[in-house]
Amino acid sequence: MRKVFCLLLICYTLNSTAQNKIVLYADRGKDTISKNIYGHFAEHLGHCIYGGFYVGENNTKIPNKNGVRLDVVEALKKLKIPVLRWPGGCFADTYHWKDGVGPKDKRPSMLNVWWGNVKEDNSFGTNEFLNMCELLGAEPYLSGNVGSGTPQELADWVKYTIHPNGSSPMPDLRAQNGRSNPWHVKFWGIGNEAWGCGGNMKPEHYADVYRQFVTYMSDWNNSDRIFRIASGASDDDYNWTEVMMRDIPAKMIDAIGVHHYSVIDWSNKGSATNFSEEQYFTTMQKAMEMEELVTKHSAIMDKYDPKKKIAMAVDEWGGWYDVEPGTNPAFLFQQNTMRDAMIAGTTLNTFNNHCDRVKMANVAQAINVLQSVILTNEEKLILTPTYHVMEMYNVHQDALMLPTAVTSVDYKMGKEKLKAISASASKDKNGATHISVVNVDANNAQDVTIEINGANYKSITGRILTSDKMQNYNSFDSPEKIKPAAYTGAKLSGSTITLKIPAYSVIVLELK
Ligand code: AHR
Repeated sequence: MRKVFCLLLICYTLNSTAQNKIVLYADRGKDTISKNIYGHFAEHLGHCIYGGFYVGENNTKIPNKNGVRLDVVEALKKLKIPVLRWPGGCFADTYHWKDGVGPKDKRPSMLNVWWGNVKEDNSFGTNEFLNMCELLGAEPYLSGNVGSGTPQELADWVKYTIHPNGSSPMPDLRAQNGRSNPWHVKFWGIGNEAWGCGGNMKPEHYADVYRQFVTYMSDWNNSDRIFRIASGASDDDYNWTEVMMRDIPAKMIDAIGVHHYSVIDWSNKGSATNFSEEQYFTTMQKAMEMEELVTKHSAIMDKYDPKKKIAMAVDEWGGWYDVEPGTNPAFLFQQNTMRDAMIAGTTLNTFNNHCDRVKMANVAQAINVLQSVILTNEEKLILTPTYHVMEMYNVHQDALMLPTAVTSVDYKMGKEKLKAISASASKDKNGATHISVVNVDANNAQDVTIEINGANYKSITGRILTSDKMQNYNSFDSPEKIKPAAYTGAKLSGSTITLKIPAYSVIVLELK
C-alpha cells in the first residue's frame, strides 16, 4: 500500500513539474524597464552606415533626407528606437572625429583597418550622425576613442557636441560647420573592448586610463549631465567588472558595459540559415547564458554599489554566424531566421527581468551587420524576425516591470537541456499589462498556464511571431514571409490564462 502511494506521489510530482506555469505578480512592480534596453548599435562596418543608414546627399534613386534613408527612418521610428551607439565597436578606437566634420571635400580618407581595409571617406561624421538621431527621435550614444586617441580629443568632442555657443573654440567650430545650437548627447562610451581591439589593456591599467579620460569630459550644466559608460567585460570575465567597480570611484562612472555574442564556435560559426537542430540548440544555450552573465556581473556590482546607482549596459549582444556566401567576410553580413527571433525574445526577457541593474542594451548591429533588424540591398529594404520581436516587445519600454515566476518543461538535446519557456511582464503608463512568452523548443508546442496574482483583468488580446521552419527568414524576394499576426489562442478565465505556444515562437499578450 505504501509502495503504491509513493508511486502515485512520484507520478503526481513528475506530472505537476512537467507543466509550464507562469505566475504573474501584478501588484509587485517596483522597477521601470528603461526604454534604452531596446537600443541599437551602428558601426562603420560593412554596409551598416554606408548603404544601410546613409546613401549620400546626391542619391536620387533612394529617397533620403540629407543622405539618410527615409525607409530606414520610418522603420526605426516604428520600432521606437530609443538609443543608437556609434561609431563602433572596434572602429571607434581608430576613429578621429575631427576627420569627419567640416566640408566633405576637405575630409581626409582613411583605411578601415578593422573591417576589410576598405576606404572610409568620412562623409558620414558627427554632424550627420547627430542630425540623424534627431530625425529618428533616438538618443545618441557616442563611443570615444581611448585606444588610439587622447583625453584632449575626447574632451574636444564633448565640447563640440554639447557645450553652448561661444564658450570655447569647439562650439565655434560646430557653428562654422552649420550647427549653432548644441545637440543633446547624454551617453558617452570611454573606449570599446579595452581588453581587446580597444587597446589590449589589463583591467587595472584601463581603470586608470578611464579615470584620466573622464576627468576632462565636462558637462556644461547640470541639466545635461553626461552619462559615462566604461568599456565592459567580455562574457564571463567577472574579474574585469570587479576591477572596474573597485578601482573607479563611484562619482566618476555611470555604467559598465558587458558584451556577449551567441556564437557556436569562433572558428566554425556555421551558416545563418542552413543550420541543424544541434546548432540551433547550441546557439540557444549561448544566448540563454545571458541570464547567468547578467546575474553574476550584477552580484559583483552589488558588492560595491548595493543601491544600484551604477548601471549595466549590455552594449553589444546578438547572434554571430558565417557571412552570407559570396559576401565580404569582413563585412559580417548575415541573414536572420526564427533562431534569431528566439535569441531576441529570450534575451529581452532577461533584460526586462533584470531592469533594476540593466539600464541599456544595444543589439549588434542595426543594419546589414550581424543580428540586424533591417537588411538593405540598394533601394530594397526588409525587416527581419529580430525587428518584429523588438517591435512586439516595445510595449515594455519605460513600463513598470511586473515580476513573474516561470516553471518550464525542458527542451532536451542528448544530455543537455534548456528551459523551453521564458517570460517577462510589465504594466504600461495607460494601465495595460503585457506578458511576453517565448518557446525555444524546436519540436513541441507548449501548453502554458498563467496564474494572475494581484489584478483582475477583463480582456486579453495577443500577437504572435511564428513560422513553419526555424530556418525561415525574410528575403528580398519574399520580404513578409515572417511577420507578427493576431493571436487569439489565449483564454482568460478568472485569474487564469491558458494558451498554447507553437515551437520556436514568441507571443506578446495584452491584458486590460
Ligand atoms: O560588432 C562587431 C564587433 O564585435 C565590434 O566592433 C566589437 O566591439 C566586437 O568585438
